[in-house]
Amino acid sequence: MKVETVVVVRPARNIRGSVQLPGDKSISHRYAMLSGIAEGTSRLENYSTGADCASTLGCMRSLGVKWQRSSEGQNVIEVQGRGTSLAPPTAPLDCGNSGSTIRMLSGIVAGQSFTSEMIGDESLSRRPMERVIKPLTTMGATIESQQGKPPLRITGGSLKSIDYKMPVASAQVKTCLLFAGLYADGETRIEEPVRTRDHGEVALRKFGVQLQRKSVGTGAEVRIRGGQRLHGVEARIPGDLSSAAFFLCAAALFPGSQLMIPNLLMNPTRARLLDILMQMGLHISVTQLEEIHGELVGSLEVEGGSLKGTTISGSDAAALIDEIPVLAAIAPFTERGIEVRNAKELRVKESDRIASVATNLRRMGAEVKEFEDGLIIPGGQSLRGAEIDPYSDHRIAMAFAIAALRAQGDTLIRGAESAAISYPAFFEHLEDLTER
Ligand code: S3P
Repeated sequence: MKVETVVVVRPARNIRGSVQLPGDKSISHRYAMLSGIAEGTSRLENYSTGADCASTLGCMRSLGVKWQRSSEGQNVIEVQGRGTSLAPPTAPLDCGNSGSTIRMLSGIVAGQSFTSEMIGDESLSRRPMERVIKPLTTMGATIESQQGKPPLRITGGSLKSIDYKMPVASAQVKTCLLFAGLYADGETRIEEPVRTRDHGEVALRKFGVQLQRKSVGTGAEVRIRGGQRLHGVEARIPGDLSSAAFFLCAAALFPGSQLMIPNLLMNPTRARLLDILMQMGLHISVTQLEEIHGELVGSLEVEGGSLKGTTISGSDAAALIDEIPVLAAIAPFTERGIEVRNAKELRVKESDRIASVATNLRRMGAEVKEFEDGLIIPGGQSLRGAEIDPYSDHRIAMAFAIAALRAQGDTLIRGAESAAISYPAFFEHLEDLTER
């Protein structure tokens, strides 16, 4: 039986202190998968504490990959790679709530000469998978689904390379196809319409794979040759920028905020949030910028300032896809409000995030206009404490805990346990940083 946790968030005066974020979720998934198909041992430090990344590790174990948590700490994972051939699973691969797990791992199981069934929770079972089914089928995999949704039954084997222009901007799909490209004969070419996070490309190189990348218009193309072997790595995973977004937006709510975030992922394909928040009036300085395993990592010093408004559209919608819920949740407190357009993808995330944001903002008394592809949230509004329904979506639960800091009265976040999907310690860390 699922037990619901309700967290009460009281209004705050300021955000102050320092916080170390869990390892980046996108990188953790990719490293766990690639460690499994590499030769030799990998050691992954600061592996994400989120339940989604545990789902990936669980699936890898079901595919015959041995791994353990190190005696040095729970978040250090040691993986004994099997090389590119995995073992047939004896039970369905449980991807839980994780779209990244089911989509990216489907590229690897499509290259295996056995059948795998991939299942997920209620939310995952509603999410569209044609975006991976179609190209993987063209490459030669046989995939059964429930009208394009999970469970997926994937029978793989040797694949044909593909030249594929992705119709949706999705780093999960790009990564899935690059992984499948490792199992294909010849060279696979993937083109994305706008640039999405490139952790798949960076991680593949780190594991010894050669690939070519170049810009194409607003997007990019990546080419990968099949049959390459991977070697194990020793890596330290930088702090998750999409999780940091909650505290950055919290700091933006109060002019007197002072926040430090060490060891944070600063990959340019993820860091658009920092530009946007700076344009809106938050003071952010980056110290100790360095490159670790191909990923930029830095420490942030943040001071509150003004909170103007902004418009997020075009390629920004893809670049900020995971941060839009929290930006939208603080939008009523901005001077000019926030407009979000071209963000239809939000409708097919862990919840319909356009509807989840609009409904909960209205519960707090805000005026919101909802569109098929976005929202307009006028600025200069005050919010009242309310009962929030996150629709079992981790990012909605956390986004509204931030809005609650400047509401009048207490806010009840129902189903607060969903935060554990990406950030189990979120409410503790928020409490530590909040001055009342
Ligand atoms: C992710 C890509 C994004 C993002 C998700 C993680 C990734 O999804 O929303 O949280 O790690 O590649 P899409 O690729 O489906 O846009």
